[in-house]
Amino acid sequence: MKDSTSSVHAAEPLDEETGSVTTPIYQSSTFGFTRAEEVAKAVKGESSSFVYTRWDNPTVRRLERKLAELEGAEDSAFFSSGMAAISTSVLSFVREGSHLLSVKDLYGESYRLIHEFLPRLGVETTMVETTDPGEMRRNLKKNTKVVYIESPTNPTMKLVDIAKSARLAHRVGALLLIDSTFACPINQKPLSLGADVVLHSATKYLNGHADVIAGAAAARRDLVEKIKLVRRILGGTLDPHAAWLTLRGIKTMAVRVDAQNRNAQTLAEYLSRHKKVAKVHYPGLKAHPQHALARRQMRGFGGMLSFEVRGSMKDAMKFTESVKVATLAASLGGVETLVAQPATLTHTQLSAEERAEIGISATLVRVSVGIEDAEDLIKDFEQALARI
Ligand SMILES: Cc1ncc(COP(=O)(O)O)c(C=O)c1O
Repeated sequence: MKDSTSSVHAAEPLDEETGSVTTPIYQSSTFGFTRAEEVAKAVKGESSSFVYTRWDNPTVRRLERKLAELEGAEDSAFFSSGMAAISTSVLSFVREGSHLLSVKDLYGESYRLIHEFLPRLGVETTMVETTDPGEMRRNLKKNTKVVYIESPTNPTMKLVDIAKSARLAHRVGALLLIDSTFACPINQKPLSLGADVVLHSATKYLNGHADVIAGAAAARRDLVEKIKLVRRILGGTLDPHAAWLTLRGIKTMAVRVDAQNRNAQTLAEYLSRHKKVAKVHYPGLKAHPQHALARRQMRGFGGMLSFEVRGSMKDAMKFTESVKVATLAASLGGVETLVAQPATLTHTQLSAEERAEIGISATLVRVSVGIEDAEDLIKDFEQALARI
């Protein structure tokens, strides 16, 4: 099935008992048995019966099957946040003495996980230049177990060559994990390019309505099983009600993202002609240094862009507080347009030097483009830029 059909129908059959068109919310922490033998089997994973919602839940299961279908994965696991998905998945494949290689451009808390937290557990980590596969190749080691990338990157909109990274990782027997939040399954299918695990902050495009915090990992069945065992221990399971909201959100993902792709392209082109804008970062622009790679590995260029205001940090702040249709807020991927200044909002976990190293300037503004009318957005940006 095509994505727009899978988004609506995959893994959501009519409810057998009632004919309910939508998946019921199984808001139950535990599941009863009539035979003790069956409990033992279920606990050992020898039957498909549900036992306890931290392990597995029927509403969450439907969502996991739906994402697996959309990513072309055998299975998926959902979590209570994107960071729960990322940390649990990474911890499923490294141990003391392992090496993890990642790119430098990462979401702030993923950066902290890799740069600060993993070394505390005895995991050696190296962060390489995001757009240089040569540096990735040179820094792989015999004990590299995970290559961790994000593409497109937050908020610098750089791309990592997914197919090349997968080949390099596999050469040393490592797995390629990719945070594909910015693209979402409509715009990018990392598993089809050779990645092993695709990660999402489902808070963003998957749910799409700024009302849920959730995360996901999609992969081959054996890898998802490993991740789910660690999820049981770390406990970052998704609540059934949040799973139901995410199921509802995903149904419109294909149409939402299609509108967001179009709006972002229009806005990026408008901004690149504006005299108060020094630079626009959007993979759909021909001027983007990796536009050719974007055409190869993405099916749409996405709803995220960033741009540098010509002026000072205060000018960028002035822009973000002057928008009226858009809102100054963290997060992204919802139906409403949001603007944020990474240096003061989303990437404050990084030091000024770390931000400078990956190109997050004080004048950078990140835009999560929504589904509003493009002309209304342009008018709004025009009046906000005029106030600088
Ligand atoms: C690219 C990316 N990955 C991961 C996360 C973390 O997701 P969550 O906030 O759902 O934990 C975010 C959040 O903004 C993000 O933008």
